[in-house]
Amino acid sequence: MIFMSKLLSISMLSADFGNLHRDVKMVNESEADWFHLDIMDGLFVPNISYGFPVVKAIAEQAKKPLDAHLMIVDPDRYIDTLKNSGVTWLSVHYEACTHLHRTLGHIRQAGMKAGVALNPHTPVELLRDILTETDFVLLMSVNPGFGGQVFIEHTYGKVARLKEMILKAGTQTLIEVDGGVNAQHAPRLYAAGADVLVAGYAVFGAADPLQAIRQMKN
Ligand code: DX5
Ligand code: ZN
Repeated sequence: MIFMSKLLSISMLSADFGNLHRDVKMVNESEADWFHLDIMDGLFVPNISYGFPVVKAIAEQAKKPLDAHLMIVDPDRYIDTLKNSGVTWLSVHYEACTHLHRTLGHIRQAGMKAGVALNPHTPVELLRDILTETDFVLLMSVNPGFGGQVFIEHTYGKVARLKEMILKAGTQTLIEVDGGVNAQHAPRLYAAGADVLVAGYAVFGAADPLQAIRQMKN
């Protein structure tokens, strides 16, 4: 899907929750493409982020697609609620789904794009028999749970290997890279085959977030 490549999804985990609408407005007015919503349960990952009231508050103001990343056990419980909250891209963790094929089917049936997220230690080769059911793969480039961590360099190789698998399988699966991504990593990740980059701290931690987004997009 050439026309869709080089997208940027902004992780709201690093937004200022006391000024959430201001930060949503900033993303609306920026060159970024999606809102990335990190949902954590304190079980699958050692942190709790935010839940449906915050998703709703963002959704009401957002003028761009919502890309929700579920770092929770048993994600099937919330698929329909997230659809009703306005989410269009929904990823679940490979490591959290015993019946991944069924879960992805459920996401698609609900009318969303189905994504599989992989922890840094999980090989992309494990996706061979599920690629045709997968609209996008989210490769974690940090251990999930927190924003502002250091990018794991090993990710470049995973992107390239996954891209090769996708081309061989002839699917339209997009590759999203999430965690510690900044403007220095962006060109090499896009060149290796990434379609969507997630950025949180690199945007909200910058003196000029709009400029940081512009830099990553170009
Ligand atoms: C980590 C989250 C990421 C993270 C991205 O558990 O899935 O989306 O918040 O933020 P940065 O860019 O700050 O690593
Ligand atoms: Zn994420």
